[in-house]
Amino acid sequence: MSDLRVAIAGATGAVGAEFLRLLELRNYPIRELRLLASARSAGRTLRFRGEPHPVEELGPDSFRDIDHAFFSAGGGISKTLAPAAAAAGAVVIDNSSAFRYDDDVPLVIPEINPHAAARHRGIIANPNCTTIVALMAVAPLHRRFGVERAVMSSYQAISGAGAQAMQELEDQVRAWTAGEKPQVEHQPHQIAFNLIPRIDAVQENFYTKEEMKFLWEGQKILEHPDLRATATCVRVPVFRSHAVSLNLELRDPASRDAALETLRGAPGVIVEDDPAADIYPTPLALAMRDEVSVGRVRVDPSVAEGRGLALWVVGDQLAKGAALNAVQIGELLARG
Ligand SMILES: NC(=O)c1ccc[n+]([C@@H]2O[C@H](COP(=O)([O-])OP(=O)(O)OC[C@H]3O[C@@H](n4cnc5c(N)ncnc54)[C@H](OP(=O)(O)O)[C@@H]3O)[C@@H](O)[C@H]2O)c1
Repeated sequence: MSDLRVAIAGATGAVGAEFLRLLELRNYPIRELRLLASARSAGRTLRFRGEPHPVEELGPDSFRDIDHAFFSAGGGISKTLAPAAAAAGAVVIDNSSAFRYDDDVPLVIPEINPHAAARHRGIIANPNCTTIVALMAVAPLHRRFGVERAVMSSYQAISGAGAQAMQELEDQVRAWTAGEKPQVEHQPHQIAFNLIPRIDAVQENFYTKEEMKFLWEGQKILEHPDLRATATCVRVPVFRSHAVSLNLELRDPASRDAALETLRGAPGVIVEDDPAADIYPTPLALAMRDEVSVGRVRVDPSVAEGRGLALWVVGDQLAKGAALNAVQIGELLARG
């Protein structure tokens, strides 16, 4: 891989911090790194490979002479600036939902549909974090048994709502334990010691956009327009890593052993499944891990002829659900 000029738009955020960690850890071939955020952060420095790097204010000219531009500054910023960055010659890898449903923008999980990346015209979309975690387990099972319908319930970490929401959970826990009233600012309700069953905008059908993303993105990534899916997405007071409960209806019967064997052979997936010995994935154990972990695999007795599976999947949504997946896409491009 030749050395690249790389920009991170949203470098000071929760996903931005993860980009810095992973680009350094994976020895991404960087010759020049440009860190971009809002005017609020201009003048700050962030460390990369032991050296301080200045944060610059993001603007239309930020992407001149950039090869790979990682965007994680929100959908509005992506909509306005990603086309300009692509026109300036950068390949944009975008973490927002701004372009995911555009037919000419590939939506890529490198372990599942790496071939799609080659069709890009300057912008590649990184899928939704919950969708990535879930599909890492769904895709290998789909290839072997044919997934016809999926029911997904998510337990999503507060860091999925950004760095300020993470801080709010910590502040609320401190206030609660000090006998004070927790302040609510960045979430619709107190998140400490609570659950919030709404993530993203409510749609006309009363599902949230986060819930619909699982269906829309699942169909596109699996190249499976007939996939049927329903989801319920819930914010939980966990700092890092999303968990999902999945019920899959299959074309072909699947035994527990066959499902486990399939998952064990899937790239980027580990299996932790011995519930009687308390071996199953948990958000804390998966934090900062690259892999997505699957456990609690069961044949669903409510589906006829052994054509149903129930499983529990956990992955670090800041890593595999966001920055790691984007960095893997960049590595794919760099390998050519
Ligand atoms: N958190 C996750 O798990 C996750 C997962 C997948 C995708 N995403 C997506 O990634 C994006 C960032 O999420 P995050 O969780 O990292 O949010 P965050 O912690 O709130 O960080 C937002 C970043 O965007 C920058 N920014 C905000 N407004 C800006 C503006 N007007 N001009 C320039 N920069 C601006 C911020 O800069 P300042 O620090 O200067 O304000 C900060 O660097 C969002 O699109 C989100 O949907 C997040």
